[in-house]
Amino acid sequence: MRRKLAAGNWKMNGVKASLAEVSALIAAHPNPKSEVLLCPPATLVAAMAEVAAGKIAVGGQDCHMKASGAHTGDIAAAMLRDCGASHVILGHSERRADHGETNAIVRAKAEAARAEGLVTVICVGETEAQRDAEETLEVVGKQLFDSTPDGATGANTVIAYEPVWAIGTGRTPTLAQIAEVHDFLRSELVARFGAEGAAVRLLYGGSVKPSNATEIFATSNVDGALVGGASLKAADFGAILSALDAA
Ligand code: 13P
Repeated sequence: MRRKLAAGNWKMNGVKASLAEVSALIAAHPNPKSEVLLCPPATLVAAMAEVAAGKIAVGGQDCHMKASGAHTGDIAAAMLRDCGASHVILGHSERRADHGETNAIVRAKAEAARAEGLVTVICVGETEAQRDAEETLEVVGKQLFDSTPDGATGANTVIAYEPVWAIGTGRTPTLAQIAEVHDFLRSELVARFGAEGAAVRLLYGGSVKPSNATEIFATSNVDGALVGGASLKAADFGAILSALDAA
């Protein structure tokens, strides 16, 4: 049985005052059935972990593949853990596009994160051109295989399917398109990792909001969501969490 996961990615948004949204979320949802994870900018990880006080999980949005050293501006997995993070998002399409992160880089980061005991939330997703060329399954299959280290388990790995063209656009795939990709990812995970592959949570991400959450959560092999914009406000993210709890 996979526990549902509502994950929020604040991206490059949020200052200390934004932590009021976290307090509001916890107050409104003191006992969610689903696991809840928020990934703020690195500057807020420690402060958010304090506010969260173990009631929700806190994660980073990236980490370096090395444990320490001369890498100005980068953050090591151990530093995230030291600040109270339990998870880290890796290979988000914005990192892949803005920072040239390849599958091999994402995999190396995932190995570093796992070595520090962080749960890795590994992102895959096709561009609009790739979908139009009917390359979606090939692209996400390769990203999944090449970005995920050996030894993935339900406890150490979460996979997020985020079509690039659905991120921040208000557009979402059809439910049939989401099901096709999630069923495919599940079969690939089971083929490689066996029973542990069946235990890995599969999140959908890309323009998830309160109005579309219920139908997305009823879709095959969708174990939760990775939410961007709608995770910034407790009311919106809380409504998505309620939809997931009811799924
Ligand atoms: P939006 O929910 O803003 O479309 O972002 C999705 C995303 O990229 C989460 O990682």
